[in-house]
Order: sequence, then structure tokens, then C-alpha cells
Amino acid sequence: MIDWFKRFSKRPVLTADLQARIRRSFEEAAGDEEHFPSTIDPRILHVRVLLETFGDLRGKRVLDAGCGKGRFGRVLVGEHPGARVHGMDIALAMLRHVAAPLHACAGSLTALPYRDGAFDFAYATESLEHAVEIEKAVAELCRVVKRGGKIVIIDKNKEHWGKLETPEWERWFGRAEMEGWLRRHCARVESRPISYWEDVDPDGMFLVWIAEK
Ligand SMILES: C[S@@+](CC[C@H](N)C(=O)[O-])C[C@H]1O[C@@H](n2cnc3c(N)ncnc32)[C@H](O)[C@@H]1O
Repeated sequence: MIDWFKRFSKRPVLTADLQARIRRSFEEAAGDEEHFPSTIDPRILHVRVLLETFGDLRGKRVLDAGCGKGRFGRVLVGEHPGARVHGMDIALAMLRHVAAPLHACAGSLTALPYRDGAFDFAYATESLEHAVEIEKAVAELCRVVKRGGKIVIIDKNKEHWGKLETPEWERWFGRAEMEGWLRRHCARVESRPISYWEDVDPDGMFLVWIAEK
């Protein structure tokens, strides 16, 4: 019955084999500093939206889900030294770049290795597009954030699918689609297109979703 469902269901399934392939691909990609950089300019709006949404992070616990080399978390702790930012990723080679004061942890977006309500804030930047079972990953993000906490997701817009080369498991989602997934767990959800720079209008490629649980 389960095999029949998997074969005919259109919903993608993250099998152990596929997860291992995705992990291997990112273990290798960690050596590619040009496409998977370990730093980010703090003026980029993708960073600013996190800082503005979360506010004062002193003593707050923050999860970077699918953190890669931890480039976003490094800016957060740089601006708020009292923040406790945890970077979680499937690829150990990425996590080797995630050094103190950031905390690093290996795990999967679809089964986060944290207890319910462990974080004040959580964010995922260009990682959910690799989660395959994206709804499940969203449910996990919401589970580990406490009530009243905030979640920020930045990812590519499904309407622009085809404009970039993508691995076979990658999937982009629409604005309303992600809003619907977040609304199942969160009291408030909003979204908008976002550009990199303040003086450049968004071209629609990237969207940001902001939710309050
Ligand atoms: C495009 S990179 C983005 C990294 C980081 N968020 C950033 O913006 O610099 C995608 C990251 O998601 C991680 N990833 C992919 N699938 C994952 C999964 N199932 N669980 C945890 N991390 C995953 C990859 O290892 C990779 O580091």
C-alpha cells in the first residue's frame, strides 16, 4: 500500500538514497567558495531582513536551518554578540566553516535535531529548495520555534523556474503555496519579493516569507 502510494503520488519523497546523494553533492560543493561563499555583505537585504525581523538578539536562541558555511549566522552574532546562533546542515564539509561563537550541528531539515520550542527565531535561506519534502521541513521549522517566535524563509520563486540550472531534486515554491504551509502552524504570515540591494527593485526571483508562531 505504501509502495503503491509512493509510486503514484506526485509528492516527492526524500528516500535515504536521495538524501545521501544530496549530502554528497553538498560535501563536494563546500570546496566551491565562489558559488557557496562563507561570507556575505551585511548590507545585502537578505541579511537586513533577518536583523530587522528578529530585533535585539541578546540572550536569544536562533536556528539557521541548512546553514551551509554559516555566512548569515556570522553577521547575526557580529551585530548581536549575545545571540546564540545554531547552524544546522546535512553536509559536514559545510559545517567545518561554522566556528565559535556559532554552534554547529549535523542534521536534516525534515527531522530537525532539536526539541519543540527550542528557539526564539529560525530562518532558512536557499535551503528549503533542497529539502524535497518541503512541507515537512516547514512543519519542523515551526515546531522548534516557541510560540510568539519568528521564522524567516528566503528562497527562489517558482514563477522563475527554469532561469537557472538546478539539480534534479531542487524545487522552488510559490508565494501562496509557502504562505499556506506556514499558516498551518503560525498565527501571522506575510511575504514579498526581495532584491539584494536597497537601490535595486526586486526582479521577482527571490521571495521572503516572515511568520510569527
Ligand atoms: C544553497 S546552500 C545555502 C546555504 C546557506 N543557507 C546560505 O545561504 O549560505 C543549501 C544548503 O542546504 C543544505 N541542505 C540541503 N538539504 C538539506 C537537508 N535535507 N537537511 C539539512 N541541510 C540540507 C546543503 O548542505 C547546503 O549547505
